[in-house]
Amino acid sequence: MILEIDLRNPAPQPNLVDPANFRAFHAAVATDDSSPAWSELQGALAGFAKVDPSGGRIFIEAGALEKLAGDLSSDPSWRDGFSAMLVYAEKKGWLDDAGRVAAHVEWEFIIPIEPEAFRHVLGHFPTGVTVLTAWERGTPIGMTCNSFTSVSLDPPLIAVCPAKSSQTWPKIRDAGRFILHLMPVAHEEMAQKFAQRDADRFVSVSHRATVAGPALDDALAWIYCSVVDEHDAGDHTIVVAEVVRLEGGGGGPQPLVFYRGNYGTFVPSTEPHAPDGPRVR
Ligand SMILES: Cc1cc2nc3c(=O)[nH]c(=O)nc-3n(C[C@H](O)[C@H](O)[C@H](O)COP(=O)(O)O)c2cc1C
Repeated sequence: MILEIDLRNPAPQPNLVDPANFRAFHAAVATDDSSPAWSELQGALAGFAKVDPSGGRIFIEAGALEKLAGDLSSDPSWRDGFSAMLVYAEKKGWLDDAGRVAAHVEWEFIIPIEPEAFRHVLGHFPTGVTVLTAWERGTPIGMTCNSFTSVSLDPPLIAVCPAKSSQTWPKIRDAGRFILHLMPVAHEEMAQKFAQRDADRFVSVSHRATVAGPALDDALAWIYCSVVDEHDAGDHTIVVAEVVRLEGGGGGPQPLVFYRGNYGTFVPSTEPHAPDGPRVR
């Protein structure tokens, strides 16, 4: 069994994990400190356990463990196993003078992830670049997104993750449909423009009007989408959209790729096996 305590909670409650496993017993303590927080741990266990920082362990009352085991503690076979564990612990010298059971403490140091570190490490994942366009009461709107993935074949679904701070996404959501453009490397400047707040994004951008939205010229593909669902996800949302029409995808232009904050393109490592490469599933 493992006594689990998360000191990051304002009122940490000990929890017994795997309570019917008597072969091993230790405490797992999570903290956002960078070193063992023994006095905090003592506070959390006040009344039923004693910390022993020099030994790297705690001594916990058997009665407290029974209580934490809940309904299981009235099961005769559990009681047998628990008593046998106490006898074994006594033989091994793992009980203190007050009959409390020793548990070695394994500290888990959970350091909050800094946004800069998150950006830096996650930026090592190369992505393509897309531009979403739609109509806002007849006016063309659009935004650059690299948080795009295909989700489902049947029904055909894709997902994108707009920031909650985005001013453009709520307008696209209101429109209910949009065109997702897979951008070619030649349109790096355009992708950059569709990410700028102060830019008039459609100035000198050639496009044609469609019912779903303005279709930008020279994309690798035009994926016509209808918004199906939106899920909360921290400071972003996950938008699921149904693909209602596909255009392009004929190869030709090289894709625009985003990697570690820079734009580039794709260089195949070998001769492609097939027009779309090997099938992996
Ligand atoms: C390469 C690239 C990828 C981007 N991907 C996303 C994204 O996935 N989701 C998002 O909300 N913003 C993304 N952005 C930022 C938005 O394009 C931009 O911040 C947003 O359009 C700001 O304007 P808005 O308030 O009008 O939406 C990306 C920007 C760049 C340059």
